[in-house]
Amino acid sequence: MCGIVGHVGPKNSVEVVIEGLKRLEYRGYDSAGVSFINQKDELEVFKKEGKLQNLIDLLGTKKYISRSCIGHTRWATHGEVNDVNSHPHSANPISVVQNGIIENFATLKQELEGGGYKFESQTDTEVFLALIVTTMNSGKTFFEAVSSSFQRIDGNSAFVILNGDSGEILAIKRGAPLVCGTHDTHSQALVSSDPYALAGVVDRLYFPEDNVLISISGANKELIRFYELDGTPDCKRYLSKKQEMTLETSEKGKYEHFMLKEIYEQPGLVRALTQYYFTGDGVKHLEAVASLKPERVHVAACGTAHYAGMVVKDYIERINAIPCEVEFASEFRYRDPLLAKKDLGLFISQSGETADTLAAQELCQKKQLHTLSLVNVEGSTLFRNCDSNLLIRAGVEIGVASTKAFTQMALTGRLLAGSMAGQFKTDEGKKSVADKFSLLSERIDQLLARVGEIKDIAERIYQRNGFFFTGRGQYFSVALEGALKLKEIAYVHAEGYASGELKHGPIALIDDDMVNIAIVGPELYEKTVSNLQEIKARRGVIVTLGPAGDKILEEMSDYYIALDFSGLEELAPLYVNVANQLLAYYTAKFKGTDIDKPRNLAKSVTVE
Ligand code: AGP
Repeated sequence: MCGIVGHVGPKNSVEVVIEGLKRLEYRGYDSAGVSFINQKDELEVFKKEGKLQNLIDLLGTKKYISRSCIGHTRWATHGEVNDVNSHPHSANPISVVQNGIIENFATLKQELEGGGYKFESQTDTEVFLALIVTTMNSGKTFFEAVSSSFQRIDGNSAFVILNGDSGEILAIKRGAPLVCGTHDTHSQALVSSDPYALAGVVDRLYFPEDNVLISISGANKELIRFYELDGTPDCKRYLSKKQEMTLETSEKGKYEHFMLKEIYEQPGLVRALTQYYFTGDGVKHLEAVASLKPERVHVAACGTAHYAGMVVKDYIERINAIPCEVEFASEFRYRDPLLAKKDLGLFISQSGETADTLAAQELCQKKQLHTLSLVNVEGSTLFRNCDSNLLIRAGVEIGVASTKAFTQMALTGRLLAGSMAGQFKTDEGKKSVADKFSLLSERIDQLLARVGEIKDIAERIYQRNGFFFTGRGQYFSVALEGALKLKEIAYVHAEGYASGELKHGPIALIDDDMVNIAIVGPELYEKTVSNLQEIKARRGVIVTLGPAGDKILEEMSDYYIALDFSGLEELAPLYVNVANQLLAYYTAKFKGTDIDKPRNLAKSVTVE
């Protein structure tokens, strides 16, 4: 998805915005650009198709002194990928960048062309620019023009607009991410579509609600001001919090890729989760959900979050004996689901900005269900739209392929189930779950120490033609997640399947070029082993993730990853999943793909 950044500060705005765009590269993009006021108070625009480095090369070695700059990484929606369609779109003195879609851009464009406006690009963003410029030419102020133009467009978007005459930046959003930040002592302010762009630059964050007009100008020492669309000042419709993200939390450190760093962060995060919810700031939030007594739970999420939802379903049905449906948010929102006020809408999301998940939450809210999120980004749109939230506490996740967030989503779901079941009313109850989380953390640590084994297996299978991930019962969800991970970063065809389903068709695909990554937990063991026999008989390549010391299974497998499931019980799938994360990572590494920024993918899918 597009990344937008705006900065007002003493003099180094271009440098700060370029650094911010570097932080947003992980979101996926196909062109980049900046516009700023130079020392002669003129508006300068540089934009270029392709990687951010192309823009940096275009800017050259000159040191630009500027107090006001906006920037953009574009993930093309309207208009092909080329320099002209790159953002910012500018018509002196106004320059605009956007994340999102203007749904009625065609009718507006027709009206503007009828009024004589000459468009340069094929983008919907330029329509918003044209509305502003045309309105200002009719005598309205910059603020009035932005406000009235924003009220004329339909669809979910965030905009950052620079006025080259005054240096003022206005920003506004509806149904798309936008976060602002200030650093009083450095007298600078930033706005972006992603808090990560502000890491290390600001010390306070502001998450505005929809239709709040934000002015960043540094004028009369007020770095940032919030208005209603009608111009009413001192609008309070925003959430403010201290910036917790520091530079080091957002760097790769000793790891070659963010994804690998994030895989290795899991043991510490798992331990910290029970500390947060049993003794830290999370106590009140976990207690608050204890009183939820839904008749049914509807989980809506996308991608990896959806598979985490399948793990959470197992917990809710097993621990709370409450029926739980898990659906892809993109399906849920369009099939007119059967919802009752006594049901709970549960939305799982790392970014809290996934358009389909936000729409699913909105549907449940309209039907008056209690809506609860398991979300990573505090202050995100989902966080602010839900009646209550449980933060998954995964920290900044930069790798487009989600790893630690999956684990934290599922574990936070486990705490939700335990809280609703009253498991945490006593210290013993808390300790029993905290001990199991610690055991999981230890087992993941031990597995990570055996990374060489998994890397060797990846080297032997990475050139194979196709992959099946199979699992039964509580392992089916991580079979699906394992397949998604491999698809995402290694660009190979991989499918997650219920072990018992292979013989109902897919087994036709099994041959000596098809790899079956079989998850064999202690539960349903015999049945799963017999499924493997069927694959073996057809010369399929078998990589088994199975119980340590199982000689029969080891004998039957081409490659064997011995796991210690003991004591993990309902957490075992999250342990197995780390092996699949490493398998996907090293398979991709041998294939030489761009692991942190896989082709065609975006970290947060904020468009439908
Ligand atoms: C996960 O590896 C993918 N990048 C993708 O499926 C992701 O899980 C999905 O887009 C949902 O994102 P969210 O958790 O931010 O809502």
